[in-house]
Formats: sequence, C-alpha cells, structure tokens
Amino acid sequence: MKQTIFITGTSSGLGKASAKYFADQGWNVAATMRTPEKETELNNYPNIKVFKLDVTNLEQVKSATEQAIATFGKIDVVLNNAGMGTYGALEFAKEEDIDWQFAVNTRGPINIIRAFLPHFRSNNGGMFINVSSFMGLTTAVPLGSLYNMSKFALEGLIEGLYYELKPLHIELRLIEQGGSTDNNFKENMTWNVNPEITDYDELTEKIKQLMNNHDPALRDDTMDIVKVIAGLANRESNQFRTVIGNAGNALMALRNSVPIEDYLEKIAANYN
Ligand SMILES: NC(=O)c1ccc[n+]([C@@H]2O[C@H](COP(=O)([O-])OP(=O)(O)OC[C@H]3O[C@@H](n4cnc5c(N)ncnc54)[C@H](OP(=O)(O)O)[C@@H]3O)[C@@H](O)[C@H]2O)c1
Repeated sequence: MKQTIFITGTSSGLGKASAKYFADQGWNVAATMRTPEKETELNNYPNIKVFKLDVTNLEQVKSATEQAIATFGKIDVVLNNAGMGTYGALEFAKEEDIDWQFAVNTRGPINIIRAFLPHFRSNNGGMFINVSSFMGLTTAVPLGSLYNMSKFALEGLIEGLYYELKPLHIELRLIEQGGSTDNNFKENMTWNVNPEITDYDELTEKIKQLMNNHDPALRDDTMDIVKVIAGLANRESNQFRTVIGNAGNALMALRNSVPIEDYLEKIAANYN
C-alpha cells in the first residue's frame, strides 16, 4: 500500500524539496504551509494535497491533521520541518520574538506530535522525523542563543519522548542539518536590534557577514538532506540522530573531544 508523509513548512527550502521528492518516489504527501493560496507548484502533483497550517495555531493543527487523515486514510510518517531563526543580542529581543522562536521551533513540533499520537496509537505505529540542526546539539554562531535554545529544547523533547513512545512502536528521528543550498532561512530570519547601543555592533557585523558570505561549499545539497530523510522514512537507516555534512560532523567531533570550557574558547576565538 502507498505510504503517506505529512510535512510542515513546505512553502520553501527543505520542506518543499522533501514534498516533491517523496511524491516522485510514489508516496502520498500532505504538504502543509501557512499560505497555500500562494502555492503554484505542489498542487500540480496528483499525489500531493496541500493544507493550510501554521504550526503555532492549534485550530489549524487540528483541522490540517484531521483533513490529512481523512484524505489519505493513514499517515505513516510526519516530518516536523517548519522552523525559523531569531538572531541578535538577547538583550534587544522583543518579548514576542522570544516567544515566537520557541512557538515555531519547539512548541510547533509538540503541537504536531500531540495531534498525531492518537492516530499513530490506533495504527500501532508511526514515525516522527524532526528537523533540528547541529545548533541543537552544540553552539557555534554568536548571537544565536534563542535559536540554540529552541533546537536544544527540541532535542530534549524528542529524546525524552523516546521512552514513552517506544512501547507503542512509534519511532522518533532527528535530522541535524547545518544549512542547505536552497532555502529562505536567511530571508525569514528576525534580527534583534537596538540602534542606540553599539556594544554588540562589531560581533553583529561579523555574524551578518558570515551569513551573507556563507561559503556554498559548507552548505549541504538540499537533495542530500532530503535523501537522508527518505532513508529514515523508508527504514534504510534507523539512526536516532543523523548529523549531516562535513561542517556539522567536524563541529560535533570537536565538541565531543574537548572539555566544554575549551570548546567555548575555541569557538569564541573565531570571532575575536
Ligand atoms: N537553512 C539553515 O541554515 C538551517 C540550518 C539548520 C537547520 N535548519 C532547519 O531546517 C528547517 C527547514 O528550514 P529551511 O532551511 O528549509 O528554511 P526555509 O526555506 O526558511 O523553510 C522554513 C519553512 O518553515 C515555514 N514556517 C515558518 N514558520 C512557520 C509556522 N509558524 N508555521 C508553519 N510553517 C512555518 C516557512 O514557511 P513561510 O514561508 O510561511 O515562512 C518555510 O516553509 C527548519 O526547521 C530550520 O530551523 C535550517
């Protein structure tokens, strides 16, 4: 029987590429996004159905999950992909931006997982694949503490859930990516600013430059990440965490090989 995947955040980047790839591989795809009225490509696939979903909106979570289940009968895999970044000095972050970072990247997956658990329990199984970042396992980019917070929390959530979902045959996976060749992540970022205080200006300038000049060679081909996700969905791999790319793996190797104090100093020295 045809398998079905439910994906959040399919308007661009990894989510959109995943929707197309799974559809091309013969899966049914429930492709969800905040603005389905703008979508022109995914609607053309006979096996993709687009649903409106802001992962922070509980009414939309309920209706999108119910509609997807009603349309396809059974959802086999859920890809929690939607996410965004709030960067800049913590001191300048607006209250609503702090909450929004958590709401989208952490509370969003919680909302989706809770909505699908009754369905997965009644199916005696299912899989949640969660797009995190190696920024969820370690730190490397100054002024990204809120993003780190949201993805570290996602890691804790998924690891903690393992024990209660394992007896129910519900599987959990984490994708630790570090940026792909094709996404709107930078365009969708929020920056915390305060033009009256200059203490963080030098560091901010360095990080903005780093992001603007981000060496394409350090980014992973979007399709390589999509194929890792497909390998997990198809059970070719049963890795709980998959760190993708040379940059992420090098960073994790460093993080795991030296005391945290040394790690922090080494990373900080990159920005002196
Ligand atoms: N690109 C990177 O550098 C990088 C690195 C590591 C991890 N990641 C993670 O990878 C995932 C995919 O990001 P990407 O790189 O493909 O960037 P992207 O092109 O910006 O895609 C993010 C997607 O999330 C959606 N989204 C944002 N807020 C949402 C909300 N409240 N409800 C539903 N959807 C929402 C966006 O939709 P709208 O069009 O409506 O905004 C967009 O479709 C994210 O979880 C991100 O944190 C990215």
